[in-house]
Amino acid sequence: MAGTQVVIVGAGPSGLMLSLLLQRQGVDSVVLERHTREYVEARIRAGLLECGTVDLLNEAGAGERMMGEGLVHDGFELAFDGGLHRIDLQGLAGQHVLIYGQTEIQKDLGDAAGERVVWGAADVTLHDFDSSRPRVTYRKDGAQHEIECDFIAGCDGYHGVSRASVPRDRIALHERIYPFGWLGVLADVPPLSDELIYANHARGFALCSMRSTHRSRYYVQCPLEDKVEDWSDERFWSELAARLPGDRASRLVTGPSIEKSIAPLRSFVAEPMRFGRLFLVGDAAHIVPPTGAKGLNLAAADVRVLYQALAEYYRARSEALLDEYSARALSRVWKATRFSWWFTTLMHKFSDEPFAHKLQLAELQYLAGSTAASTVVAENYVGLPFDAGRAAGTIRAA
Ligand code: FAD
Ligand code: DHB
Repeated sequence: MAGTQVVIVGAGPSGLMLSLLLQRQGVDSVVLERHTREYVEARIRAGLLECGTVDLLNEAGAGERMMGEGLVHDGFELAFDGGLHRIDLQGLAGQHVLIYGQTEIQKDLGDAAGERVVWGAADVTLHDFDSSRPRVTYRKDGAQHEIECDFIAGCDGYHGVSRASVPRDRIALHERIYPFGWLGVLADVPPLSDELIYANHARGFALCSMRSTHRSRYYVQCPLEDKVEDWSDERFWSELAARLPGDRASRLVTGPSIEKSIAPLRSFVAEPMRFGRLFLVGDAAHIVPPTGAKGLNLAAADVRVLYQALAEYYRARSEALLDEYSARALSRVWKATRFSWWFTTLMHKFSDEPFAHKLQLAELQYLAGSTAASTVVAENYVGLPFDAGRAAGTIRAA
């Protein structure tokens, strides 16, 4: 039987980042990933990084290309009622965000992690995580394997095996499903604007984002039942233009889509995030609706708390930080869950009822006229401080 200190299930951004950060602390790990490397690197997902996530990728030794190619954004725009209001992130919150695609992060992390990842590991199964000697079994190329370890990190996303291995009576699941999806289109056309535009419109929400100065990422709110085949490129571009203020819509550069997908929106939190020697990390423990781009950033924040706790365990044989992992991570998770829910609720069409839309417009107008309200948005958007809950003395073991 093989052995390592930490088995990490899942080679998404959280699993690979954790492995690299642990290695820098002299802690060994093996990463087990169900899919091939090519499959994982082709998934189009996040694009917006908080400074804390950028710092962590640099600390993990995978940030060089990101620092050269990422686009710094000092603000973003809210479009509503035919006009625009800019949220000045730098002026209001003293920070910027960085545009750099998750596909690129995934490649950079994969290169840095090298041989420690087992790609195409089938039937990953967790054993004995309530004991001091957990084991993980898996199948690869027809052969059965078993790894003994000190800890298991469940970094295997919303559909993974780690959370599903926890007995139902030991975990609380909180969930909200939203009654619409996001249709996303990637196209090699110059972005509409230097900064992102989030649009509230009577026809539904739209987002103008980007991956680089020549690659755009656009989204429109769509019915949950819609299929990608229902949306020709022409229909997509005309719907996007209809949801933007006139002067912006006239500047939209269209072109053939290179990717088109529909994502459902959900808020989900599993509590606690630790079960004996199993720790849930990132999307395995929580999902936010994409509005405000918190998913990948929250996953990175979990990794930061966990790698420091594991490093402390191996350095000083102290379990103090491991005992705090769940409460520290959840304190930030709930704040980001609240922000993502609020931003989703403010910007999307939930019904045909004019009253609901009037209330959204009143809130957006209030935001635009209030430095205090705009600052609240800016602070949440750039990412809340890592240890705010601790400073306020609100940490309890979970
Ligand atoms: P994942 O990326 O899901 O990785 C989990 C890995 O585990 C996968 O590789 C999976 O194959 C593997 N796995 C699953 N089950 C098993 C198993 N049984 N055995 C072995 N391996 C397994 N977030 C942002 O911060 N900013 C954004 O702008 C943003 N935009 C988004 C846009 C879209 C359209 C979507 C869908 C998401 C977006 N997100 C965004 C969210 C972000 O992509 C996720 O939060 C992030 O990928 C979470 O990383 P993770 O490593 O925790 O999980
Ligand atoms: C992106 C996605 C988001 O949800 C967001 O708020 C900003 C950007 C993106 O995919 O580029």
